[in-house]
Amino acid sequence: MEKLVVNSGNQLLGDVDISGAKNAALPLLASSILAEGEYCFSNVPDLLDIKTMLTLLEGLCISSKFKGKDIIIKNDGQDGQDDKSHMVAYDLVKKMRASILVLGPLLAKTKKAKISFPGGCAIGERPIDQHVKALIAMGARIDVKHGYIEANCDYLKGCDINFDMITVTGTENIVMASVLAKGETVIYNAAQEPEVVDLCNLLRKMGAQIEGDGSNTIRVKGVEGLEPASYRVMGDRIEASTFLCALAAAGGDIILRNAPAGSMSVVIEKLLETGLEIHVLDNNTIRARKGIAVKSADIVTQPYPGFPTDMQAQFMAVMSSAAGVSVITEGIFENRFMHVAELKRMGADIVLKDHSAIVKGVRNLTGTDVVCTDLRAGAGLVVAALLAEGRSNIHSIYHIERGYDSFDEKLRLLGADIKKVESE
Ligand code: EPZ
Repeated sequence: MEKLVVNSGNQLLGDVDISGAKNAALPLLASSILAEGEYCFSNVPDLLDIKTMLTLLEGLCISSKFKGKDIIIKNDGQDGQDDKSHMVAYDLVKKMRASILVLGPLLAKTKKAKISFPGGCAIGERPIDQHVKALIAMGARIDVKHGYIEANCDYLKGCDINFDMITVTGTENIVMASVLAKGETVIYNAAQEPEVVDLCNLLRKMGAQIEGDGSNTIRVKGVEGLEPASYRVMGDRIEASTFLCALAAAGGDIILRNAPAGSMSVVIEKLLETGLEIHVLDNNTIRARKGIAVKSADIVTQPYPGFPTDMQAQFMAVMSSAAGVSVITEGIFENRFMHVAELKRMGADIVLKDHSAIVKGVRNLTGTDVVCTDLRAGAGLVVAALLAEGRSNIHSIYHIERGYDSFDEKLRLLGADIKKVESE
């Protein structure tokens, strides 16, 4: 097992290249189920979750290979293949909940799917009732037997879908289910995340008829068939926002390149409120500098365009040593405060009350051994280690590697004293 060793004290200086967005790349790759032929995806981040999705697609008889940094996907068609080409086994779904993203496209294209029921994870139960309810409304027959979702349909028909709550992968699954359905599907209470828009941009390139993505109502007119296409994955707004928090922690002056500034405005506004100097130089370039000491600020995580839940842990790490008291409310997941116990071991003064964490900034956190509980909590611990006094050892870093491409390497290039070593 490996760990990250961080010695604080160095400022971050220079340029950092933001990678493609994990949460855009996963549904984009799943779209390759919808049409036979060859796809070329560029700016795909090099992550464990991407490797898991490519393995999953291989199991569905959809091959992939690298061409330089691009990924070439070849769908030779699943029709006539054995049942395996419609099945996603437990070991893959256990590794990555986002495996559920193949359910909609498999039903749309091959009319059947057998996917292990995704379990919960550290941040919550993560149910998929909304996905299932919507697909049944579209004509799918769905059984849950022996831990597997077994789905089939004669065909999917367009209809009105009203989500009880905003669900990102639920919206993405139903958009991918509806592009080949008979008739029009209208999704109300749809997720507005930029990653949903990225998916719809690819589907339109493939010939789909979609309007309203980026708003809370998405209209899809089903078409007879789609064609493969090439696509460049959007920049990762969560990775870029994480680097802004790292700067707030360590100090310095950095430039983020390939950062989707247009989809980061709420995070930028909030970090400006804490005293960070941030200049959006153009749509893809952000300069940030830490001039004054960080002041506390409150956040409530909400669906896009609100403050992203995927940035809650990283922001809390910065607030742990800010001047004043910050109230951090988690509005999306029921258990996304696993990082609080680890931050308190570093000396943070945090009290949990219902869905909120009351964070009283302390002068200094102290470096120690801490454990990542999930992907974004891990990133938050790295941010905390950059501002803590002394040395920190961060364990279970595979969580971080699921969602951050070369995170320690990028921080080291900016001047941070961080290295990956084998745990004793
Ligand atoms: C996506 O997860 C992201 N993952 C998550 O990022 C992100 O935190 C989350 O959206 C919220 O923004 C990907 O895009 C691959 P949801 P998703 O369905 O789609 C409840 C990361 O760190 N719900 O929007 O699984 C659910 O329990 C990951 O990159 C139901 O009750 O999240 C949650 O409370 C973590 N029933 C809320 O809705 C359902 O059928 C939002 O979940 C679906 C969701």
